[in-house]
Amino acid sequence: MQTLYRRILNFILVMGVTLLSVGWNQAIASAAPIIPNANELAHAVQEIESLDAMRTGLASSLEGSTEVPTKQTMKEVCRPVGMRAIQLSQENGWQVKQIAKKYRNPDHAPNNLHDIIGLAKFNQEPELIGFWDRETLDKQMGTRYYRRIEVEASCLACHGLKDSRPQFIKDGYPQDLAYDFNVGDLRGMYAVFIPDNIQKAIQDATN
Ligand code: HEC
Repeated sequence: MQTLYRRILNFILVMGVTLLSVGWNQAIASAAPIIPNANELAHAVQEIESLDAMRTGLASSLEGSTEVPTKQTMKEVCRPVGMRAIQLSQENGWQVKQIAKKYRNPDHAPNNLHDIIGLAKFNQEPELIGFWDRETLDKQMGTRYYRRIEVEASCLACHGLKDSRPQFIKDGYPQDLAYDFNVGDLRGMYAVFIPDNIQKAIQDATN
């Protein structure tokens, strides 16, 4: 219940940040031809909230179940989140990533300075839920949205003590670093890069 309350609060907070940035964007809209599109930014926030809710939902259904989880149900918590992130990138022309310093899947390792700075910022500011940045990624200018991922009790079945990780994780992720977490720890972050030209195209289409 507390988690749900917190989630709603987080969402309101993040939407607040979005609206602020929208106001700012509109103020500079007449001056700059290529600007982050307000709808696009709000859309990114919404999609990430759904993605995070999907993981929490799957993890807590596993936790609440009286049945012994099968190998299949155990596998179906974070992998679908990764697959949905890829799908979101393809659908929207974004780059949607999960990034963690202590990663399980090496695809989620931080791999540039922005990633490292983003993680450090969440680490230093425990109350920070999300933020925006203007960045150049792979030589392309754009806007990047960052969103905190925190460890909850339901995560510990697979991200808790090293020795108590399910067998499929020990076997499938030999270089796993994503264990020994406690509730409330920073688990990592989502990062959504929205390139400028996509925003421009959408803006043109809606004008
Ligand atoms: C049933 C086991 C299981 C549970 C429960 C679980 N995870 Fe995971 N988690 C995994 C696996 C397996 C991966 C690697 C998935 C992949 O290959 O993309 C992973 C990956 C992740 C990643 C991507 C970064 C990385 O390390 O590769 C994040 C972030 C994450 N988990 C957060 C959470 C959070 C937050 C919770 C609780 C709400 C949670 N996990 C619950 C098994 C689990």
